[in-house]
Amino acid sequence: MAATRSYVVEPALAAYIAEHSTAPDHVQQRLMNATEERTGGAARMQIGNDQGSFFEMLTRSMGVTRAIEIGTFTGYSAMSIARGLAPGGSLICCDVSEEWTRIAREHWELAGVADRIDLRIAPALDTLAALPADQQFDLAFIDADKPNYPHYYEALLPRIRAGGVILVDNTLWSRQVLDVEATEHDTVALRAFNRMVAADTRVRCVIIPMGDGVTMIQPVP
Ligand SMILES: C[S@@+](CC[C@H](N)C(=O)[O-])C[C@H]1O[C@@H](n2cnc3c(N)ncnc32)[C@H](O)[C@@H]1O
Repeated sequence: MAATRSYVVEPALAAYIAEHSTAPDHVQQRLMNATEERTGGAARMQIGNDQGSFFEMLTRSMGVTRAIEIGTFTGYSAMSIARGLAPGGSLICCDVSEEWTRIAREHWELAGVADRIDLRIAPALDTLAALPADQQFDLAFIDADKPNYPHYYEALLPRIRAGGVILVDNTLWSRQVLDVEATEHDTVALRAFNRMVAADTRVRCVIIPMGDGVTMIQPVP
């Protein structure tokens, strides 16, 4: 199984990047295999190992203690963030699927991070609306239904501490954001989201050509 899920970079370069990046460990490989075997075609929604390594290292470097993820699926990105948390840190995970997150829970146990993850099964906008008014985060990752990205962003931005980040997945959408002929609903939503963030003077942002495109956003101090 490939250790990368790259939809932006040409395949030979993606393979080179995977070969020259830390390989998945036993639990990560087991989760990739379980996701292929138990979710069928949905497995392409899982982030790649390179992206997971990046999230884990970023989380650790930032000393993150409070993190939130919108869109958990079988738990690969959550496992990566959870591994990077500072001692005593925790990650809130939002998803609507009991079936897919059952696989996540199994593998969080195997990875020894289940005790730092608080999984909330409900539409993520409801979970966000129910958070205490003063709840802040060091890091947020958005990776769920694309038309709701602006709503997740607006709900999360006031909760990100100075120097914190929001990471957003799929913002290059298999390069379709560039294709003027592509008018599918999610493509249009992602183009509009990218325009909105780039024009938002409250933040600095950069799109990283990793995986399917990852936007990193930081509030302006
Ligand atoms: C692309 S997958 C997430 C992949 C995951 N981050 C990973 O690393 O494997 C998107 C997830 O968002 C969830 N989702 C879709 N709509 C949602 C909503 N309104 N609220 C919460 N989760 C939602 C889906 O059930 C799915 O598990």
